[in-house]
Amino acid sequence: MLTTRFTELFGVDHPIAQGGMQWVGRAELVAGVANAGALGFLTALTQPTPEALAKEIARTREMTDRPFGVNLTILPAIDPPPYEEYRDAIIESGVTIVETAGFNPQEHMPTFTEAGIKVIHKCTSVRHAVKAQALGVDAVSIDGFECAGHPGEDDIPGLVLIPAAADAISIPMLASGGFGDARGLVAALALGADGINMGTRFLATQESPVHQRVKEQMVTNSERDTELIFRPLRNTARVASNSVSRKVVEILDGGGEFADVRDLVAGARGRQVFDHGDLEAGIWSAGMVQGIINDIPTVAELVDRIATEATALVQRRLAGLTTVR
Ligand SMILES: Cc1cc2nc3c(=O)[nH]c(=O)nc-3n(C[C@H](O)[C@H](O)[C@H](O)COP(=O)(O)O)c2cc1C
Repeated sequence: MLTTRFTELFGVDHPIAQGGMQWVGRAELVAGVANAGALGFLTALTQPTPEALAKEIARTREMTDRPFGVNLTILPAIDPPPYEEYRDAIIESGVTIVETAGFNPQEHMPTFTEAGIKVIHKCTSVRHAVKAQALGVDAVSIDGFECAGHPGEDDIPGLVLIPAAADAISIPMLASGGFGDARGLVAALALGADGINMGTRFLATQESPVHQRVKEQMVTNSERDTELIFRPLRNTARVASNSVSRKVVEILDGGGEFADVRDLVAGARGRQVFDHGDLEAGIWSAGMVQGIINDIPTVAELVDRIATEATALVQRRLAGLTTVR
């Protein structure tokens, strides 16, 4: 068993987290991750209302008595969701771990701290990790350029971002983006992280609530099968490559504006992909790590495999490479 500051802080067996995933971070997946001894996060905004989130938290509790958390993704919007009400639903439901992402969590920190909630803030740059630590978060999850979803605009891959962040902060840190197996976990620990956070790899598991065709496509896809959309708008998102995401890139690279792609990137089209397996209906987040996803295991098989192989890697392969003169 690998014990780190992360496993100790959050009371889990393995230094592995499943980050928030819109439409995917639901009770079945999160309870599966918790029962496997890792830390899963429900995605608050997947639920249409704060009341629905409270019900989803209760549903998760029926499936596990292990720790799990809720992801609160804060995105600037003209008509934002009622973040404070979602936050209060989390607190009133007795959840004690929150993953914040998207925007700095300053506004919500005093309330979370007062409620005794541990906050892990996910960000994509060293300066944001430093800021989050100064705001009093308990841990940071740092997303490299490889990641699914929003990698930021700096384009720093994990190999540099993780040790740079480890040098700059003192609180526990998860390495995120591009992790999918034991080799990645051991590398992350060597780079100074206390564990890994995964999205795409958990998307392709039995418990993930998306259509089987999406999971099979992720097994088929290589590390080259992602697109970076919204680059010219400086709101980059890494999504699976398909006819829709390639069209979005073409339109924006050709000088188009958001209004020209609004319909193509609509959430309802993405739901069509996840719910009905219509792979060309819309866009869906996926990372470069697709290139090392070769199967669709249960969450327990995946977590056990990563933990067991990581221990063997450290104790046998790496130890065997070391010669003391
Ligand atoms: C389908 C999907 C949806 C995601 N939605 C969110 C989200 O709503 N909020 C969030 O903070 N991160 C979201 N992410 C990012 C993940 O939590 C995680 O940071 C990322 O996937 C890590 O990179 P990886 O995919 O290479 O493991 C999403 C990722 C995927 C694959």
